[in-house]
Amino acid sequence: MSNRMWGGRFSSGPDAVMEEINASIGFDKKLYAQDIRGSKAHAAMLAAQGIIAADDAEKIAAGLDTILSEIESGTFEFKRSLEDIHMNVESRLAELIGPAAGRLHTARSRNDQVAVDIKLWVRDTLDHIDGQIADLMTALAERAAEHAGTVMPGFTHLQSAQPVTFGHHMLAYVEMLARDRGRMRDARARLNECPLGAAALAGTSFPIDRHRTAAALGFDRPTANSLDSVADRDFALEALSAASIAAMHLSRLAEEIVIWTSAQFRFVKLSDKFTTGSSIMPQKRNPDAAELVRAKTGRIVGSLNALTMIMKGLPLTYSKDMQEDKEQIFDGLESLSLALAAMTGMIRDLQPDPAVLKAAAGSGYATATDLADWLVRRLGIPFREAHHVTGRIVALASSREVGLDQVTLAEMQAIHAGITDEVYSVLTVERSVVSRTSFGGTAPDNVAREAAGWLARLRGD
Ligand code: ARG
Repeated sequence: MSNRMWGGRFSSGPDAVMEEINASIGFDKKLYAQDIRGSKAHAAMLAAQGIIAADDAEKIAAGLDTILSEIESGTFEFKRSLEDIHMNVESRLAELIGPAAGRLHTARSRNDQVAVDIKLWVRDTLDHIDGQIADLMTALAERAAEHAGTVMPGFTHLQSAQPVTFGHHMLAYVEMLARDRGRMRDARARLNECPLGAAALAGTSFPIDRHRTAAALGFDRPTANSLDSVADRDFALEALSAASIAAMHLSRLAEEIVIWTSAQFRFVKLSDKFTTGSSIMPQKRNPDAAELVRAKTGRIVGSLNALTMIMKGLPLTYSKDMQEDKEQIFDGLESLSLALAAMTGMIRDLQPDPAVLKAAAGSGYATATDLADWLVRRLGIPFREAHHVTGRIVALASSREVGLDQVTLAEMQAIHAGITDEVYSVLTVERSVVSRTSFGGTAPDNVAREAAGWLARLRGD
């Protein structure tokens, strides 16, 4: 049997393989709510413009409401032979209200319809993700406020560099996530133009009111060019780009959690809720959630790459290639959403171990820079020379396998005669972090103030 929706000039139905490759209902049924919302706005506009009769528009709206509840209660029968969500809904509408259903598609095409649906879905999802990022930032800022003065090693090259505080480290991620949020909001702002009424590609001869449908669907304005309206998916690529960068940030935090929870580090403990055991090794507490957050990044960046490749080289306007956008968009953004939820759960319950962190902060001569700074400040020698003197003191300590504070004053004075025993006061990790009072530095007072500021701003959101 030929297709009821477009089969007028066809004498046979599609081959089974054709149906299989062509159908998108398996995944685009996710767009049912957006599709119905778009159709209701379109029908109301058609009636307001006198293009269809008011009672037909009422029947259409009532039928669409019935379909919405059928889908949400699980009684709706999706048919692969009807290809996609748009035709499944329209076909059921015809069963429910008869010929009036056929008027809904006046001055519209599936090309502008699908562009509206997917834009609405991306917009809804970006709004959800915005709230999720705020939740993660709050969890991080809470840990930062609790541990504003908890000293830990700061690393470069994953080698001990200088002591920092755990709170400062948490707030570094808050800053990154704030920029991620900004990128999502920028993407949302550019996305928010309504393609409905572009019709197939050229616009329509019916006297439609695109400003009305744009406003009804919460868009800022209608899109300005009908060809562009149905041809581009850059809004989705932009959302996936922002998602990829956010996922990259999450993967770094996830990697740190994996390292920090290892028996060799023991910097932090994850709660039982976010760890798993081993079926053979009873001692194990594996950070699976962190590992999976790290892995989701590959998937999310993969979606961005896949959609970019799908879109490249397509002549204007719509090509069926574009049906392949949906699985990438859904998978990329839903993976980010799940990763954010898992990371927030982990951070909420995260327990840093201050004693272990402090001991680790002192290893690896992490206060060597403090010693060099003291030489500059107290003895007035140039930093380069101070660096050299400190290097010799570190070498001596290292050859004796002791910390800097165990090198005797006489030994230090043999390297530079001007050193006094006041130097020992800067060699502790606590003194080191307290001294970092420059703007943006790790001094506990700075960190406490920043954490409180973030928490106040996040509460105000
Ligand atoms: N299922 C299609 C998609 O997702 C809807 C648009 C179909 N348009 C067309 N000209 N065949 O892209």
